[in-house]
Amino acid sequence: GKTIVVTGVSSGIGAETARFLRHHGASVIGVDRQDASISLDGFVKADLSEQAAIDAAFAQLPEQFDALCNIAGVPGTAPVDLVARVNYLGLRHLCQRALERLPHGDQGGAIVNISSILGAEWPARLDLHKALAETPSFEAGLAFLARHPVPQETCYQYFKEALIVWTIAQSQKWFLAHGVRMNCVAPGPVFTPILGDFVQMLGQERVQKDAHRMKRPALADEVAPVVAFLCADESRWVSGINLPVDGGLASTYL
Ligand code: NAI
Repeated sequence: GKTIVVTGVSSGIGAETARFLRHHGASVIGVDRQDASISLDGFVKADLSEQAAIDAAFAQLPEQFDALCNIAGVPGTAPVDLVARVNYLGLRHLCQRALERLPHGDQGGAIVNISSILGAEWPARLDLHKALAETPSFEAGLAFLARHPVPQETCYQYFKEALIVWTIAQSQKWFLAHGVRMNCVAPGPVFTPILGDFVQMLGQERVQKDAHRMKRPALADEVAPVVAFLCADESRWVSGINLPVDGGLASTYL
């Protein structure tokens, strides 16, 4: 079986992904700032909002692993600096650190980043997102954001958009050069502890509108198998996509 590192493993989508992967024979090493309540093959406690903490976590992770699932994230009710760090800068640093530990070549390793259907409007700010994507490090990203501040109200959407743009751009380079695939999965609303935060972020009206447009929020175990597929050899020719898992919600905005 494969060895797969899963962040955000202590709750919601991360926990279900770990459970699904283990059920199908993978060894899962979890990473989270909170202790995990599910069985895992290894666990590293780390605060993924700090570059130094991510580097310290890598000292405890296996020398080689097959895939990385970046599922840890905070809602837009968190301070904008934290949203930037966890949902984008830290995630990106995790990918960069993982690159050297993933298999390269024909059957290269895989990275899956959790975006959101709330990141769908990335083309509207493409130039900014591309410029941020070109910052080479966590620190350089922070400096860019100090020059181009992001408002609290839309920071969640902004950094999901930025994540999609970075993933698409970076995946092209890494797939060509190393055979490492990187993709995003974009969930619509999912029943997890942060679902209530979206009501606060988007307002009751938008949430009610969405509720009429979809059957129900997803269960975390309806997202997990899609993440697992993008880690598996069966998806080896899929690279640089942002795959919605939203019960068709985004399509109703057409
Ligand atoms: P959750 O709150 O159930 O799980 C998030 C996990 O990330 C928690 O275990 C938390 O401890 C961990 N985490 C947060 N900040 C961390 C940090 N600084 N260091 C280490 N670990 C940290 O949330 P859920 O819903 O499972 O979210 C997972 C991902 O899915 C997030 O990226 C979220 O933005 C995304 N998402 C969720 C949707 C939803 O409706 N629940 C919809 C679309 C995307």
